[in-house]
Amino acid sequence: MGRATVADIKGNGFSELDKETKANTEDTNKVPDTNKNRNTTTSDSRGKKSRRRQRKMMALPASAVVHPVQRLFNACKDVFASARTGFVPSPHEIEQLSALLDEIRPADVGLTPQMPVFSPQVTRRAPTITYLHIHACKRFSIGIFCLPPSGVLPLHNHPGMTVFSKLLFGTMHIKSYDWFVPTTSAVVNPSQTQHPEVRLAKVKVDSDLTAPCKTSILYPADGGNMHCFTAVTACAVLDVLGPPYSDSEGRHCTYYSDYPFTRFPADEQVPIPEEEKDKLAWLQERDKPEDLVVDGALYTGPEIMES
Ligand SMILES: [Fe+2]
Repeated sequence: MGRATVADIKGNGFSELDKETKANTEDTNKVPDTNKNRNTTTSDSRGKKSRRRQRKMMALPASAVVHPVQRLFNACKDVFASARTGFVPSPHEIEQLSALLDEIRPADVGLTPQMPVFSPQVTRRAPTITYLHIHACKRFSIGIFCLPPSGVLPLHNHPGMTVFSKLLFGTMHIKSYDWFVPTTSAVVNPSQTQHPEVRLAKVKVDSDLTAPCKTSILYPADGGNMHCFTAVTACAVLDVLGPPYSDSEGRHCTYYSDYPFTRFPADEQVPIPEEEKDKLAWLQERDKPEDLVVDGALYTGPEIMES
């Protein structure tokens, strides 16, 4: 077995990818040494903010410097300490994690856009995506998806989870949905009984995101819990999931196809305002796309101290 797919992520809290990553350490490590990488980054290529941060770090003894990814891990340990299905951090905690993620730059996790995993792929099938596992436990997971141009993470959900996504570099198109909740308690179904398996959802986001930008957050019931990422340019996304996928705890990853609202006439018992219809779509569960391949590779950024 040479590859892990996103299907492996389902229910294993990324542990399958973790195994793959370890197994592939020798032959698939395409990520250069982080420290070497950081040392070769000129101060000119970083913003004023980064230079201020560097000066601040240089002024401290080495033992006192806590790396941005370690700070993120430490905060996740506190914030997600009791995370279970449906967990949502407090507004203060969300602000804290967002601020920490907003500070993280590609060099902080050992990445540059020039690395082979981001190169355009001449292939008839979908470009291979690379996942860099950083940490996974019962409460949360941290990892990075590396997408070459045109790479797609197809429409999938995050049941009962809060997810922070930080675009580290590049441009990515995000399309996301939440389930449509009508103002009445009625359930909206298609009027045609031959399509009982589709469910109505409302578009939350349908736009390009270009780094540097703020961290995106989705919640169990809103914020775009079902999303699809398409790489407009090569890009990297740092994801924090709390809690992570877990089959044993009922948090399975489900894939969907989306259809325009007009594809299936809706049950007329629930009137939907005309202006809302453009933002609605029917989602239908599907098998994992056959051409989706996510390879595990070794994360070579700063080591996380777990104690
Ligand atoms: Fe996702």
